[in-house]
Order: sequence, then structure tokens, then C-alpha cells
Amino acid sequence: MKFKMIYSFLKADIDLIEKELKQAIDSRSPLLNEASLHLVEAGGKRIRPVFVLLSAKFGRYDIHSIKNVAVALELIHSASLVHDDVIDDADLRRGRPTIKSQWDNRTAMYTGDYIFARSLEYMTKIQNEDAHKILSNAIVELTVGEIEQIKDKYRFDQDLKDYLRRIKRKTALLIAVSCQLGAISAGAPPHIHKKLYRFGYNVGMSFQITDDILDFTASEEELGKPAGSDLLQGNITLPVLFAMQEPWLKEKIIRVDETADQEYLTSVIEDIKRCGAIEQSHELSSRYLKKALKELEGLPKNGANKTLRDIANFIGRRKF
Ligand code: IPE
Ligand code: IPE
Ligand code: MG
Ligand code: MG
Repeated sequence: MKFKMIYSFLKADIDLIEKELKQAIDSRSPLLNEASLHLVEAGGKRIRPVFVLLSAKFGRYDIHSIKNVAVALELIHSASLVHDDVIDDADLRRGRPTIKSQWDNRTAMYTGDYIFARSLEYMTKIQNEDAHKILSNAIVELTVGEIEQIKDKYRFDQDLKDYLRRIKRKTALLIAVSCQLGAISAGAPPHIHKKLYRFGYNVGMSFQITDDILDFTASEEELGKPAGSDLLQGNITLPVLFAMQEPWLKEKIIRVDETADQEYLTSVIEDIKRCGAIEQSHELSSRYLKKALKELEGLPKNGANKTLRDIANFIGRRKF
């Protein structure tokens, strides 16, 4: 089943959000306009808005108010991608040249800031101080996560805890907060939005682990973004950490640095794919998914609950 089919009953509301997203980044500056539209029009899975809407179904669902939260979350995510592609020196995103490659790093820096600023406009339409605090905290954590990743490049002595803390910050918290704020903005009680937060956190951890696996196993065409580039850039992800449990392979991996040639890197990547590290990574991803599904059991059994379960299951199997 295609990802978008899972939430097809939300189509009218998602279409509305798509329209708002384009309006939100409309600018008098032709360059900002063109650069941000370039990214937003390329689509994307829209997983964060979908989580906002589904979580709002556990409260008083009103698309005209909840759409502001959904747009704000997707804009924050979009801005972080523009900045991330600078950090990761990536040339492709959602099947298109990245802003940093079509324009340059400086343009990407300010386009990212611009999209961030636009997200604030949408967030302030939700008059709830707690929601603003939750969101600003998530942005701070995301930034720390990305900075830590730069600091931890080629640091082969890091452990599983370092990795998990980093992906929690850079990815899982924003997904957790999408669920939490969807529910809070719809007036759902704390025992509901706390469960949804934990659901989002666990799904988010699994989502990033899958992303790190796909960097090894998928192709650029499938992903619409560069594949095989994490280790190339010195990013130590979960498959690498598991692979380093094998002493001979650890010896080989820690010799990777900025100057490593392509042939050597290709051989290291092949070894990592063959040594069982991918399977071990899948196992950990599944453990997070199971925890996410467990949270859903404690929530009211409605259509949104079922769809969240389908999405969680899809994330474990996703190939893009
Ligand atoms: C990409 O996020 C960055 C990660 C957190 C892995 P998505 O995979 O949600 O990107 P789009 O929005 O679908 O392009
Ligand atoms: C996630 O990290 C990006 C952000 C949270 C901003 P990655 O660097 O792994 O994501 P991709 O692979 O570029 O989408
Ligand atoms: Mg990155
Ligand atoms: Mg990246």
C-alpha cells in the first residue's frame, strides 16, 4: 500500500494544508519565494502534519484551527531540511536539487531562517502559551542534535547512547511534539496527549533508524536524496555502531577519515551491509515501533487510532 493511501480519508484536509503551506511562504522577495517554493512544492511525506491531524481527532477536531499547528510543524521541518542539506553538503532532496546546490550555502541559510520565521506566524495563531514553549523547546533540541552530529563526525569511540540521544533530538522530538500539540490544540486531556507524545517519540526513533538503514540499503532514485553518504561524511549511524562490534571490521571502519578513497569506502560499506548490522538495526527499530503500538492500546479505539497504527507499521517497512 502506498503511504498516502493510508490516510486518504484526510485528503481534503491535507489538500487544504498544502495550499496553506504555499501561501505561508509567499514573499515579496523573488529569491526567497522561488527557493522556498522549490522545496515545498517538491512534496514530501507530510508525516508531521498527518500526525497533527490524527492526534487532533482525539479531541474536538476543527480543521480551521488545527491546520495552523500542522502548517507550523511542516514549516519547521522544512526549514531544518534546508539547513541540514548545508551541513550534510547534500545535492538532492525530494528528487530535486537542494537549495544549497541550486543557489548556494548563503541563500540556503537565509531561506531556512525565512521558513522558520513563517512557521512562527502560524504557531501564534494558536493562543496557548504551553504550546509555544513545547515548540520552542523542540526547535532548540533539534538544533543541538544537528550541532552534536557535526561534533561527533568521525568520532568512532561514541556509543549507542550517544547515537540515541542525537536522533531523539534531531528527529524524534519533533514527531512527538506533532502528536502532542495536535491533541493539546484540540483540547484533549493530559492522559491522552501524553500517550500520543510517547507514541510520536517511539515512532520518531524508529523513523530515523530506518532512515539510517536506508542510507546503506536504498538507492538515490528510491530516496530522492543521496544514498550511501552518511559514512562518507563521517556520520556514525546505528549500522556502523553495530558493525564495530566485530573487531576486524572495527579496525577497518576506524581508518575511515576525510581522506579515505572511494574504493576503500565502498568496501567498508559492503562489509557493513554483510555483517548483520542492518538486521540488528532493524531489530532495534522494531522495538521502538512495538513501544509505539503499545501506547495506542491505551487510547480510545477510533479511526485515528487505527490509522496511527497503520502508519507506524508502514514506517517499519518503508523503502523511501
Ligand atoms: C527527513 O524527513 C529527515 C529525517 C528526519 C529522516 P522526512 O523523511 O519526513 O522528509 P520528507 O518531508 O518526507 O521529505
Ligand atoms: C535528519 O537527519 C535531518 C533533520 C532532522 C533536520 P539526516 O541528515 O539523516 O536526514 P536526511 O537523510 O538528510 O533526510
Ligand atoms: Mg543530517
Ligand atoms: Mg541530511
